[in-house]
Amino acid sequence: MMDGKLLARARDGLARRREENAALRAEREKRVYARVPEIRDADAALRALMGEVISAAASHAGPEALAEIERRSGELCRKKETLLAAHGFAPDYLDEIVSCPRCRDRGYLADGSMCACLEKRYEAERERELREAARLGDESFSDFDLGYYEGQARQYMELALAACRQFAVSFGPGAPNLLLQGGTGLGKTFLSRCVARVVSGRGFSVDYEPAQAAFAAFEAQKFSRDPETWERSSQQVEKMLNCDLLILDDLGTEMTTAFTQSALYNILNTRLSAGKKTIVSTNLSDTELAERYIPQTVSRLSGEFDTLTFKGRDIRAIRKERRYL
Ligand SMILES: Nc1ncnc2c1ncn2[C@@H]1O[C@H](COP(=O)(O)OP(=O)(O)OP(=O)(O)O)[C@@H](O)[C@H]1O
Ligand SMILES: [Mg+2]
Ligand SMILES: [Zn+2]
Repeated sequence: MMDGKLLARARDGLARRREENAALRAEREKRVYARVPEIRDADAALRALMGEVISAAASHAGPEALAEIERRSGELCRKKETLLAAHGFAPDYLDEIVSCPRCRDRGYLADGSMCACLEKRYEAERERELREAARLGDESFSDFDLGYYEGQARQYMELALAACRQFAVSFGPGAPNLLLQGGTGLGKTFLSRCVARVVSGRGFSVDYEPAQAAFAAFEAQKFSRDPETWERSSQQVEKMLNCDLLILDDLGTEMTTAFTQSALYNILNTRLSAGKKTIVSTNLSDTELAERYIPQTVSRLSGEFDTLTFKGRDIRAIRKERRYL
């Protein structure tokens, strides 16, 4: 059984390919028309002939009339080919461009069966989905150990754990945005990935991005000249802006530039406007956030996000000590 969501994505991919090919063909036509206006005239005459065929059919014209139209149309086509050749264009230069000649990029064959090219796209979508799932990791709430936190820190962390659990199981349009705030090694990444797994498992699109990777994608999308890098980073940016839940981890570890400031503002503002939910985690305090980011960003973080404060001792350090006990 094929997954409908993945199949829809595969077909969207094919539709985009059709559009690209159509755009490419339109460009070719424009170039040829500019260089060889006679070809534009021939095309116009061919279109007019199409009209004649239709009215001939409607008025039940005899076979001679149709044969005459056929003859003139053949003549025009040959004239076009001669003109193309005379100006150094390949004879099929103006033909429809298709990536898969078997289905002409429709994805299905005449007998209704699926074309191999669409099957291949479907497989690629499936693999991408699996890779994504692997990227979201295997952290789960049941492995989150409150035993690492003592005293008052434990109370904060019980609250953080309960809030994240609640967020994950009830995720939907009414969910808040979360700011996970606190020192290093306290479980921010761990908990946010627990949330990612549960929310993604419930069928929402979830993207987890360390801040540095997120900003690198924006930069590549803006500045990369390599088409593959550009394509990949554009997809990543698109996902960051539009997925149901974005987890932006380790905000503040990036080198802050005018570019990252505007990218961050863009992420937050686009998502807030669309009602999409975001979890931001950071080592920075409120004061440090206010010092580092532009007021528009700070205002959104403080006004539109619920803060969960992480407290305690660095669990990386605790684990290291225990290794020597
Ligand atoms: N409550 C917990 N129970 C078990 N392991 C935990 C818990 N919290 C964190 N860990 C583990 O401790 C390490 C540090 O946690 P994590 O990476 O989530 O910290 P962080 O708050 O994101 O730190 P940083 O600010 O440096 O990114 C990880 O290996 C993580 O799996
Ligand atoms: Mg972290
Ligand atoms: Zn095909």
